Amino acid sequence: MTEPRIAPTADVDPSAQIGDGSMIWHLAQVREDAVLGEECILGRGAYVGPGVRIGDRVKVQNYSLVYEPAVLEDGVFIGPATVLTNDVFPRSTDVDGTLKRNDDWTAQGVVVREGASLGGRVVVVAGRTIGRYALVAAGAVVNRDVPDFALVAGVPARRIGWVGRAGVTLQEEAQGRWRCPKTDEVYTEHDGHLSGPM
Ligand SMILES: CC(C)(COP(=O)(O)OP(=O)(O)OC[C@H]1O[C@@H](n2cnc3c(N)ncnc32)[C@H](O)[C@@H]1OP(=O)(O)O)[C@@H](O)C(=O)NCCC(=O)NCCS
Repeated sequence: MTEPRIAPTADVDPSAQIGDGSMIWHLAQVREDAVLGEECILGRGAYVGPGVRIGDRVKVQNYSLVYEPAVLEDGVFIGPATVLTNDVFPRSTDVDGTLKRNDDWTAQGVVVREGASLGGRVVVVAGRTIGRYALVAAGAVVNRDVPDFALVAGVPARRIGWVGRAGVTLQEEAQGRWRCPKTDEVYTEHDGHLSGPM
């Protein structure tokens, strides 16, 4: 696999680790101790905070902001201008007016599990988890954990369907039995959760 390619205008801290085959486009910033796996693509103007951990074959599209201590597992897709926040009750200052410093508050990272996709301009509230292969619609605001394979949309995001590993909406062929029209994989729904494929 080839060495990572980093555009000349990207700002990658020397302590960050970038995996082979990864591409970092213009004006992207990768902060101290962040880890990007192999074959990742970080789009123009994207931001990856200190210590953020990103797996292999992850795409972070243009101008997305991934605040620490977020974790993106393998195969995750982050659409353009999406924001993974890290502070539920943000304040710049204490009540006495002094500027809050990093050790005056506790950052809560978003976790995006294997294969999940977030559409364009999604906002995820600090500390929430997006389940495996879930799909978050464009413009959604996620303020609750999203189950594996859930298709969620809106503000706040609500489940409007299920998607399989291929990212296609599943069709219910019998009570609690869902089939992917693209791959023919079958998933089973139980108590609001989907498992599979079989
Ligand atoms: C959510 C999504 C996958 C649904 O695709 P679809 O199944 O073809 O959608 P449809 O247009 O048939 O809509 C299905 C329903 O979801 C609603 N819906 C679709 N997208 C929505 C969105 N982004 N937010 C809220 N509701 C949405 C539709 O209004 C419709 O509701 P209705 O049945 O009450 O009329 C798609 O709209 C989406 O947002 N994809 C992400 C695109 C994106 O950001 N890509 C990033 C790479 S550039």
